[in-house]
Amino acid sequence: MAASAPFLSLPSQASLTHTLPKRTSIKSLAELPGLTSMPPIYTFPTNANDQPFSDAKESIPTIDFSHLTSNNPDERSKVLQELGESCQDWGFFMVINHGVPESMMKAIIEACRGFFELTEEEKQEFEGKHVLDPIRCGTSFNVSVDKVLFWRDFLKVFQHPEFHSPNKPAAFSEIALEFSKRVRQVARIIVRGISESLGLEENYIDEALNLENGLQVLVANFYPPCPQPELALGLPPHSDHGLLTLLIQNEIRGLQVQHKGKWMNVNPIPNSFLANVGDHIEILSNGKYKSVLHRAVVNNKDTRISIAMPHGPALNAVVAPASKLQDHENNPPAYKAMKYKDYLELQQSSKLDGKSCLERIQDRTV
Ligand code: OGA
Ligand code: NI
Repeated sequence: MAASAPFLSLPSQASLTHTLPKRTSIKSLAELPGLTSMPPIYTFPTNANDQPFSDAKESIPTIDFSHLTSNNPDERSKVLQELGESCQDWGFFMVINHGVPESMMKAIIEACRGFFELTEEEKQEFEGKHVLDPIRCGTSFNVSVDKVLFWRDFLKVFQHPEFHSPNKPAAFSEIALEFSKRVRQVARIIVRGISESLGLEENYIDEALNLENGLQVLVANFYPPCPQPELALGLPPHSDHGLLTLLIQNEIRGLQVQHKGKWMNVNPIPNSFLANVGDHIEILSNGKYKSVLHRAVVNNKDTRISIAMPHGPALNAVVAPASKLQDHENNPPAYKAMKYKDYLELQQSSKLDGKSCLERIQDRTV
């Protein structure tokens, strides 16, 4: 009977941040009045391999999407060549002239902001546990395995083959449905181009991996201002699962891409998509195209919102290097065949750590 303590004294900021439960949203932590330092669990150990970021003169290639659907054969073969080179040299490219209206891109970002601004109680309803839960929000990457937490809240919603949406905020569902449909069309045309650029039939990837039923996920990332941005990370270096991720963001920068061993800031062209090759294109291409490491850094002024949409095979599709891209003498299969769904579970079961998941299925027996 603790009747003698009617008043709880408000803990100091330091003790409060030490005692917050691990799954506290980063939004509510960032909003603590007068927050000047972070709980130590957000401090990232300095990584010896982490070369200093450099502003190289080289910049991420740009692909004119309208040329991929062009009837002009010269235009089309030129853009396929550029697409192949971008996948091989960078694994990252910007997509312009994609036809998705700017107003739709702004509306989906605002709908995601609206979701993160729901109360903690409202969001709790969507706190999923499993990687295959169709709607799942949370903080960091996977709080049950992350040793250091990332300065990021997320919402992940399956959009295809079945469409899902949180029922709040009210406008979310309609905008997400329309946006996802448009983005999926863009992604599938790029994947057809990638297939052709690898010397495969245009429809090879579509058919081999059953893209008619392919998985499309909307991943919204919320990175509020961080009091010690140089010590924290929004997302650690990682590659994406799936075939192709298309990403948009609000006007705040924070994405960095590894290129030739150096971290480069990405400065997106307004209204473009940032595209990157996922692990399953690396597998399918037998390592010719590599999924590339990228990470998100944070800042102490502005909230950054990004929406990444990975497009993958059908969950039950088994992904293996295309037989046309292997030969047993010079180019043996470099990866073991694996069901996409099993790969997702494998990635979620360990901490997000570079390309460690892909490395686990590299075939070293040949
Ligand atoms: C991701 C991702 C980067 C960003 O969600 O997989 O890499 O800029 N996001 O938010
Ligand atoms: Ni990513």
